[in-house]
Amino acid sequence: MAILSSTILSGLSILAVGLLMQSWLRHQPQPNTITSISPAQKTQLHEIAALMLEIYQTLAEMRYLNPESIHQGPHNLSSLHPLYTAQNIDPEIVYLYSILPYYIGSPPLDGETDFFHGGTFADFREEEDIEQSRDPFYAGPDGVDFDAGNGPYMQSWMTPLSRLGNHGSVILYDARVHQIWIIDQEGWVSTDPGLDEEEEDDDGGVKEEAGVQRMNRNSFEHIPSRPAGDVLRDINRWFRELEVLPGVGEYSGPEWDDEELDLRGLYREYGWLGEFDGEGFEVGKTRAYCSGQARYKAEEPLRAVEALRGWRMSFDRDIERCRGDIAKGGSVDEEWVARFELWKMERVYKCISVQSEEKEAIAAGLCPGGICIKEDELVVWEAEVLRQEARSKRDSISRYREWAEDSEQGGRGWEIATRAAEKEADIYRKAYEAASADAERMCPGKNFESVSGRQALDEEEMETSIRKLKDKILNLDREVQEATEWAGQLPDEAVQARAMVEQEIHGFRSRLEFERGVLTRMSGHVVQ
Ligand SMILES: *[C@@H]1O[C@H](CO)[C@@H](O)[C@H](O)[C@H]1NC(C)=O
Repeated sequence: MAILSSTILSGLSILAVGLLMQSWLRHQPQPNTITSISPAQKTQLHEIAALMLEIYQTLAEMRYLNPESIHQGPHNLSSLHPLYTAQNIDPEIVYLYSILPYYIGSPPLDGETDFFHGGTFADFREEEDIEQSRDPFYAGPDGVDFDAGNGPYMQSWMTPLSRLGNHGSVILYDARVHQIWIIDQEGWVSTDPGLDEEEEDDDGGVKEEAGVQRMNRNSFEHIPSRPAGDVLRDINRWFRELEVLPGVGEYSGPEWDDEELDLRGLYREYGWLGEFDGEGFEVGKTRAYCSGQARYKAEEPLRAVEALRGWRMSFDRDIERCRGDIAKGGSVDEEWVARFELWKMERVYKCISVQSEEKEAIAAGLCPGGICIKEDELVVWEAEVLRQEARSKRDSISRYREWAEDSEQGGRGWEIATRAAEKEADIYRKAYEAASADAERMCPGKNFESVSGRQALDEEEMETSIRKLKDKILNLDREVQEATEWAGQLPDEAVQARAMVEQEIHGFRSRLEFERGVLTRMSGHVVQ
């Protein structure tokens, strides 16, 4: 009996341990991610990956993304599983990460690239992106309680599909409900243009006022969302229909995000969406951008005058205030402090006045009557800007190639970058040739010098820079001397004022030392 019962007991305990094991296993991260996902869910995850890829391919077709830099799934993420486990990411999301496409801007531009509504591309093969996926809004949540005031808000079955840019929106996906939110970090509202306003009112503002209390201020599930497939198909359609333009944001540079640049018009001009002439578009966009740059550069003399005028006015006010301080009286020390401030300001003022006169004379010569550029000659300017840009793009190729061939630094990224640089240089060459041909046709007999009164828009020659730097050093030397002389008149009581002058002289001396160093390096460069 005793034997029997002990057998039964041990049988029971084995059973209990078995049950415990099962429940323990259920709560452990599953190392084998594939088996625990149902076929229905897999279908949904593949829909997400396929639609994301469609969007990326649209952006490549629009000549915004380099198709070579789109990394399609599946990816072997075995080596990252410890990271996913550490972040408590569910198997279905890990599976999604293994099939999503990733865009990595090629070096040296491998930082952020604008994607959608101010957000950037995410790459869940990167440690940083994996970690940020649990706090995509940089809210800095505490603890593990999703009901806490500043609790976590990304459940293990959720993931962002984009990264937060500089206060833009993030695309969030919930794999359990297969819904997508597009949420603006600052407004904490949906920026999904596909939600009609009624929906937004219903789920957003109104309900909240009706007394629904949310403990966790980071939670976003009350914000309206839509079926994931619909949202991603819409994003693709908005790009295709030019309702949303690629590259609008902080990271794509002025060649995509210049207010003056009519991207929509350019796409249509080159046949988007039907028979799109992608190369023609790129050449046209480059020309439009450089034409804007030409105008901006032509107007530089006016901006210089304007900036100095603004400076002078603010100094006028400061000098007035300083004179008032001296008149008010006070201790000997205070008076000398005010006198020193005045002395300093008057020197700067004099310097600005001299420069103002110089700049005004230059502007009068280059921009008579405030007009820097004659509209019918703009194309000549454009060609000059393109000449320089085309040369610098061409020169950059060899640098890329060196990097690509460098056995330590190089690699696939730099090879792609080299090819991208070659393509870009080719576009710039074509743009330059087209602009030159137009300039000859529209302004026969004219060249850049004859229309602009300048030889070239080239960057400053090294010799000019050196001459300017030498002048600067002479000036600084003089500042030191004059400040030392000025300090000579200070009475013994002017303790604070003396300290200030000494501080000032010290500042001049360290700048002198710095500029002399620059000069030595520059001169060395010239000699080589
Ligand atoms: C995935 O990568 C790991 C190493 O990280 C390797 O051991 C494994 O064989 C790879 N799997 C496949 C299917 O290539």
